Formats: sequence, C-alpha cells, structure tokens
Amino acid sequence: MEDLQTLETEITAEINTAADMASLEDIRIAALGKKGRVSLMMRELGKMSVEEKKEFGPRFNGLKMRLNDALADRKALLEEEALNARLQSERIDITLPTSPEMEGSIHPITQVMDEVTEIFTEIGFSVAEGPEIEEDFYNFTALNIPEEHPARQMHDTFYLPEDEEGKRKVLRTHTSPVQIRTMMAGPPPYRIIAPGRTYRCDSDATHTPMFHQVEALVIDKNIHMGHLKWSIEEFCRRFFELDNVKIRFRPSYFPFTEPSAEVDIGCTFKDGEIVIGDGDDWLEIMGCGMVNPRVLENVDLDPNEYQGFAFGMGLDRIAMLKWGIPDLRDFFAADLRWLKHYGFAALDIPSLSTHGKKADDKAAPAARKGK
Ligand code: PHE
Repeated sequence: MEDLQTLETEITAEINTAADMASLEDIRIAALGKKGRVSLMMRELGKMSVEEKKEFGPRFNGLKMRLNDALADRKALLEEEALNARLQSERIDITLPTSPEMEGSIHPITQVMDEVTEIFTEIGFSVAEGPEIEEDFYNFTALNIPEEHPARQMHDTFYLPEDEEGKRKVLRTHTSPVQIRTMMAGPPPYRIIAPGRTYRCDSDATHTPMFHQVEALVIDKNIHMGHLKWSIEEFCRRFFELDNVKIRFRPSYFPFTEPSAEVDIGCTFKDGEIVIGDGDDWLEIMGCGMVNPRVLENVDLDPNEYQGFAFGMGLDRIAMLKWGIPDLRDFFAADLRWLKHYGFAALDIPSLSTHGKKADDKAAPAARKGK
C-alpha cells in the first residue's frame, strides 16, 4: 500500500497547481473517483484486520476530507480568477458616446413630469406619492364621494376582485387620494404635488385607460382663492414659457372642493395646429377648488383653523398642448419612429429653471433641434 502521507502531499500539490477547472476535475477523478488512487487504497481496508481498520479508517477519512477541502479552495480561487479575467476583458467605458442607433430618448410624459416637478419645487412644493391600487376610502369616501354618489359612476372605475372582507380595491381614478394620504400622515401645513398614473375605463383619441395626472394640495392657516389663482397662473406662465397666458376659471363641481372650478387656457387653431396662450378658443387643462371643509373633517382637521386649495391636472393633455402632439393614444403605442420624433435627448437637462438661463436654452423636443 502506498504511503498515505506521500500520497496526500502529492495530490495536494497537484490540486494547488491546477491551472483551470478542467484539470482540477481530472485531478479529482484520478484521486477520489471510483478508480482513483485514494479510492483504490480504501478498498484495501476490507482486507484489513479489525485492529488495522481502527487505525486506517479514520486516517483515510481525514485524508479524504482534507483533499475535498483543498479541491473546494482551489475551485473558489480559479472561479474568482476567471471572473476577474472576464471583468477585465469585457470592460466597457460607459462614459463613451453611444452610436446613434443605440441612443434612447426621454418620453414626453417623463419630460412633462420632470418639468412640472421642477416648477412646483421651485415655488416651495414637495413631491408626495400614493399607490396606484387604492382603497375605496382614499379614492372616494374620504374625498366626500359616498357609496351612492353619482360621481362614482362618472369615474368609470376599474374595480379589483373582492378581498376576504368583501372589500374591493380600485385602480385610482385620480391622484386626489394622495391628498388624503398626505393629510393623514402628519400635521399641517401641507404644500405638495403628486404626479402619477391614473386609470379610467375609457378609450378614444383623447382618453386612454391609463393616463397621468398631477395633484396639488396646499393647506395652511389663511389660504384663500387668490393663492390658488396665482399658483395656477404662475405654473402656466412657466410651463408654456409665455409671459402672458390667457386663463379662465369656469365654475364647476367636485365633491371634494367648494367652490370648484375648471381651468381653461386660451388658444387658437392655425393651419390645424394649436397655438397656446391667446386667441378665442379655450382648452380645459385642470380641475381645482378650495378644499371642502368636509374633507378636512374626514382627516381630523378643523376647517375653522385650516383651509386650502387643490387642483388636479392631466399631464398627457398639457404635454399634447405644449408640443403639438395630436393623438393621446400615440403616447403608449411604443412606436420607435414616434418616440424618436417626440422624445427628448437623454442627456438634455429637463430644466425650466430660470436661474441664469435664456428662453432658447430650455429643453425642447429632440426633433426640433434638427435631429
Ligand atoms: N380629481 C379631479 C379629477 O380627476 C381633479 C381635481 C383635483 C379637482 C383637485 C379639484 C381638485 O377630475
């Protein structure tokens, strides 16, 4: 029988110098495989006396264990080396310019969200969020839309199946539930906007089942309609990049605001294209109003102490107006030619900041930059 010690030294040396995984596997088979050197020796155990077995049994097991450990260590080392070599050879410099075919673009909805957020954060709003799968309570009840209220039908709601308690969640039909979530999360004052996806079961050239809104909520002591009007006018001036925008507030009804209004923006149609800001035509861009005292009571605020305003605006709609996009459905058709035409260059800073900038520095569709 071979000397166990010599055998171990030899095999260990082989393992530790194995150049790759294939040779390591060969070494393993030659030592521990069915016909391997160690296995063959272990067979001799059968012929041994009880005394010898007592001595050699544990020595064999120890040897096997140490060899297996050495194999595992070598394997780990080789794998790490292989990975490092791969990382080196496949290294790419992500700061290099891409080829034009590979260049993506920023979707107009993303761009509009960034611009709206930029404008409102500059005048002191922060950004709030809420879930798209919403509880009935936040989407309706707390907003003063009780069970039998006709406004529930107006919303063409998508309902989810009943849960164990018999309750049905909804795909939020507007961003207004974020008003409730914000007011229930902490004490006033609040000055937030909440951009996001909203859903209604509706589809034609100006409606898609999924669309985008941005909600605004301001609650503090002594907030009045003047603040509402200024905020909306200031937003329109900055967003449409016009010093004078014609805006009108048309009396309307929402269960969660009182009084309520819809905001129209003046426009004209020239050669089939919309020109925003002036003219004899009007386009509706948002709903707004002073927060209904009943909504404040629903979130345990005292309407005699706190008041405020809210508005909700269709982001898809204002993107269409700003960049002359004719059909809403195209936003979601994933047509590459459309995306290239209306998309924004990825590295353009989507900024309307007024700090040290001229009007022509402002982000514009890539298409208009001669791309
Ligand atoms: N949630 C309303 C809608 O989707 C818009 C709105 C928001 C109106 C806030 C008033 C105040 O139509």
